[in-house]
Amino acid sequence: MIYLDNAATTSTKPDDVIIAINNYLKNGTANASRSTHEKSIEASRTVYDTRLLLANMFGINDEQRIIFTSNATHSINIALKGILKNGDNVLITGISHNAIVRPLEKLKESGINIITADCNNDGNIDISKYKKILTKNKIRLTVLTHASNVNGIIHPIEELSSIAKNSNSLILLDAAQTAALIKIDINKLNIDLLSITGHKSLYATQGIGALILNDNFDYNILNTLIEGGTGSKSEETIQPNIIPDKYEAGTLNGIGIASLNASIKWINNYGIDNLLSHEKHLRAKLYEGIVGLKNISIQSTNNHDDYVGILSMTMDNKEIDDVGYILESKYKILTRIGLHCAPLTHSYLGTFPKGSIRFSFSIFNTLEEVCFVINAIKEIAQP
Ligand SMILES: Cc1ncc(COP(=O)(O)O)c(C=O)c1O
Repeated sequence: MIYLDNAATTSTKPDDVIIAINNYLKNGTANASRSTHEKSIEASRTVYDTRLLLANMFGINDEQRIIFTSNATHSINIALKGILKNGDNVLITGISHNAIVRPLEKLKESGINIITADCNNDGNIDISKYKKILTKNKIRLTVLTHASNVNGIIHPIEELSSIAKNSNSLILLDAAQTAALIKIDINKLNIDLLSITGHKSLYATQGIGALILNDNFDYNILNTLIEGGTGSKSEETIQPNIIPDKYEAGTLNGIGIASLNASIKWINNYGIDNLLSHEKHLRAKLYEGIVGLKNISIQSTNNHDDYVGILSMTMDNKEIDDVGYILESKYKILTRIGLHCAPLTHSYLGTFPKGSIRFSFSIFNTLEEVCFVINAIKEIAQP
């Protein structure tokens, strides 16, 4: 089987992650930050150590600014619903995932106004239009997406965030497709809030993510999404206004955190640049192998450096569902077909409403697999 749906979830995890999960369960779990017994302290240590690893990865000085969540969607919901108020303008880009679009649609009911910065038909942002929006409107929050989950285009975050900062907008970055693939220093990049998810390019389990606050971000302006037990200030009935407890109500996902702990150590060892260059290499090989073939359209350019390891294509002579079915049933190639929870992106790429066939790579894919996929596509695309 060839698994090429890594943008949804990386299927193969490093052995170190599997060992860490196994050890965590074998040794018996306990609840972090709740009790004074040794098992609770041990659990708290893993949580704290993982905060340190994440703080180090994303250039944060204060590890308490790492807030554990369930996934990127959860992180984005805390940020959007915690900051935006009646009458606020929020700016999003054309490559936004439904994790951004849907909570904002809900927030429209509370008087929030959404403005979208257009992209062109390969997902690149139109910077002059983006700049104009920020000069003409008072934007409370700009929500940037680091890389599209549909075609992999990487947006120039440093440039976009500096334009938004010049207009005094807060910035949220959705790094679901780039965390541990592209170096992100949120203090340097002027990002106020960063959203990540564990189960994709971070190679951890599903159900763990984080919202990371810039060292200078005033969290008094960020309301809570849920409230509950934190193991701190238990004499008070109101949610403690200390981080990370304020946003971490309820028992943390200990096993997810243990898996993230192991995966980050593994990533640090392997090297972020090496992970990205492997994915880029495979993506470029796939592109070069199918570009120009009769009936094939690829929703990206040949500027391979502009993309993470994701490629979307359509076939003019076949329905995408049929292509996906043949890829799996005849060739055992697993892809993702459709809109990829990002209909807005597809509307810019010209593939709405049917969507595309998406191939997405991880470090565990090989060149041999890509060659096999190219041949399969050639055979399927024949008239
Ligand atoms: C760009 C982007 N943002 C957000 C998400 C949501 O991630 P999760 O499902 O882990 O919450 C995804 C998932 O595909 C994504 O690709």
